[in-house]
Amino acid sequence: MPLSAGGSFDPGGPVAAEINQLWWLMLWLGVATFVLFLVLLARGLTRDDDGSGPDRSRTFLYAGGLVLPAVVITVVFAATLVSMRALSAEADENAVVVEITGHQWWWEIEYPELGISTANEFHIPIGRDVELRLRSDDVVHSLWLPELAGKLDLLPERVNVLVLRADQPGNYGGTCAEFCGLQHTKMRITAIAETEERFSAWVDRQRSIPDPPSTSEAEEGARLFAITGCAECHTVRGTDAVGVDGPDLTHLMTRMTIGAGTLTNDLESLGDWIRRPQDHKEGISMESPDLTDAEIDSLLAYLATLE
Ligand code: CUA
Repeated sequence: MPLSAGGSFDPGGPVAAEINQLWWLMLWLGVATFVLFLVLLARGLTRDDDGSGPDRSRTFLYAGGLVLPAVVITVVFAATLVSMRALSAEADENAVVVEITGHQWWWEIEYPELGISTANEFHIPIGRDVELRLRSDDVVHSLWLPELAGKLDLLPERVNVLVLRADQPGNYGGTCAEFCGLQHTKMRITAIAETEERFSAWVDRQRSIPDPPSTSEAEEGARLFAITGCAECHTVRGTDAVGVDGPDLTHLMTRMTIGAGTLTNDLESLGDWIRRPQDHKEGISMESPDLTDAEIDSLLAYLATLE
């Protein structure tokens, strides 16, 4: 699976780094307080005589019960405010805007300023702010790309904005972080951070319309795609397939996975997915089309042209 496993301890950009720093500060303050407590406890338990007297006890009481927690909580509170300010900063003017819509159980991805639609994987240029506009088409989902940012909910009735930036190229794996039904765990997303040149090459490719099928098998597959129900749910730009219930398949072959991270995207898995979608991801809207093996091979020959 092309999903990275570095997690939030391996920040790939400034937003995640800010959260990571705050986390470590809280951890070390917690550790220091706990160690101090253990030392005092050990001392109290091992003392022979109690010659401290009420004055010293009261000093300890105030120091440990009021001053120490007040100092620690104030420091954490102040650090959290600083981090929150840094995180809520607005995106730069030249930010890439990406609209992400949560569905049960996949991610619809659009670049309104670039005219691109895709699903479950999105490309971003390194070193540039990315403004994610999040909403849901059904229930509450939550986007979490641990190496790039904190979690943020996708809600049906409003748009939440998450700004992030990747400084290093790489595939940053993410997931839905809010229970959203049967296939919540199979709702993966990947941010692919790359150089400005590679990003614009990707954008050009996604904007293009794939060449029409050139073999008779692929042509037959295109015909089957149009008449067996695929086209009712999926869009392939440049054709009559304009369904919007499932992922846009115009450039399906440029994506790494099928079913939001369920399977690796190759023709064998794709064939298996089309034959038995409910076995791979029970509860999704997709049903297997009523096709013979030969017809599914034709369908695959067509899908292979969607580059
Ligand atoms: Cu979508 Cu959990």
